[in-house]
Amino acid sequence: MTRTMETMMTAPRTTTPEGEPERLQRFLARCGVASRRHAETIIAQGRVQVNGEVVTAMGATVVSGRDVVTVDGVTVTPPNAHAYYVLHKPAGYVTTLKDPSGRPTVADLMPIEGRRLFPVGRLDRDTTGLLILTDDGELAHRLMHPRYHVDKSYVVVVRGVPGTQAFRTLEEGVDLDDGRTAPAEVELVDVAGGDATVRVVIREGRKRQVRRMFSAVGHPVVSLHRERFGPVLLGDLPEGATRPLEEDELAALRAAAGLSENEG
Ligand code: URA
Repeated sequence: MTRTMETMMTAPRTTTPEGEPERLQRFLARCGVASRRHAETIIAQGRVQVNGEVVTAMGATVVSGRDVVTVDGVTVTPPNAHAYYVLHKPAGYVTTLKDPSGRPTVADLMPIEGRRLFPVGRLDRDTTGLLILTDDGELAHRLMHPRYHVDKSYVVVVRGVPGTQAFRTLEEGVDLDDGRTAPAEVELVDVAGGDATVRVVIREGRKRQVRRMFSAVGHPVVSLHRERFGPVLLGDLPEGATRPLEEDELAALRAAAGLSENEG
C-alpha cells in the first residue's frame, strides 16, 4: 500500500493526530462506517450528527476525541486512536520495559518519546525479528490469547540436520515438560556447514517454545529470528528500527484477533 504524504508526516500511527480537524467523511471512513464516498451519501441523507446537530454540509470538519459524532444515533469512534509499531528487535535486548539487572531492553528502542507502548508477547534476549509495540491493550491481549491461534513464522538455524522423524515430530507435536505442542508447519530451507536453516510456523506462544521444540528433537537452536506475526511481515526493516503499521496491516491484525473494523 502506498503511503500518502499525510501519513508519512504523522509520527505515531494514529492516522490523524487527535486534536486536529479532518473532514467528516474521512473521519467516518476511519471509523469503518463506510468508504469516504459512501460516507458522503450518508451525510447527505442527514443521518450524521455532530455534537447533537445534524450535519449535511460536505465541507464540515470534526476533531477526533473532541466532537461526538453519531450515525443513525450511534456514536462512532476511530478504531486506531492507538499507536501500533513493528520493531526489528536485535539480539541482546530483553523484551521488557525495565530490566532489574540493567540490560538493554526494547524500551530503549521505542519509536516515540513520552508514549508508553508495550510489546505484544515476548522474544528471548537472543532472538531477533518482529515484535509489535502498541498501547492497545485489548488487541494485544487477544493476539496473545490461544483462542485466536495467530500464527508466527520463525527462521531457525539449528545444530545438525533434522531427519524425517524429527520433522514429523515437530509437525505433529513435541512432548515438552508443559505438555505436547500443537501441530506446527516445518520446512527445511538450507543446509550449510553442518547446520540446518528451518522455517517453522507455530500458533502457540509458550516460553522459549521453538528453542525447546528443537532441543527436544536433538537439534539445539543456534539462532532464532521471527519474520512474521500473523498477517504482519518484518520485510526489510533494519535491526533496531521501528515502523508504524500500515492501515491494511492493522485491519488484518484486528481481523486475526476477531475484532471487526469498528470495534475497540
Ligand atoms: N520461541 C522461542 O523459543 N524463543 C522466542 O524468542 C520465540 C519463540
